[in-house]
Amino acid sequence: MIRSLAAAALLCLAAASPALAGDAQAGRTKANTCRPCHGADGIATNPGAPHLAAQPHVYLVEQLKNFRSGKRTDPVMTVIARPLTDEDIDDLASWYSSVAIEAKTP
Ligand code: HEC
Repeated sequence: MIRSLAAAALLCLAAASPALAGDAQAGRTKANTCRPCHGADGIATNPGAPHLAAQPHVYLVEQLKNFRSGKRTDPVMTVIARPLTDEDIDDLASWYSSVAIEAKTP
């Protein structure tokens, strides 16, 4: 019992560890293919593409997995997401969620 509690606590710690939440620098490199639409730092340069900068990691992972599985479809993103591994998705999400943005109201 005590042992399983300790294991559960360790799992929680591991889940909260940034090292296991993807590698932002690896994601930055992998994001080269995303640049033409989503911009170098996730601020989209293509008016048809959404900004990805500072989106929550969990949201980005979910959307990319949804595109990959076909749960969410888009002529471009369905093709882009299909070859991505779980690790790619984790790294890409870590990169875009690590970009800080500032909102300025007019
Ligand atoms: C040719 C343009 C293009 C490229 C390249 C591209 N995307 Fe996209 N992306 C889009 C468009 C357009 C959408 C909006 C799709 C929709 O309307 O559902 C989108 C949506 C997304 C979303 C969902 C965002 C949201 O707000 O829900 C994510 C996440 C995403 N792209 C990640 C990526 C990643 C990561 C790459 C590179 C591996 C990439 N995209 C490459 C055009 C592109």
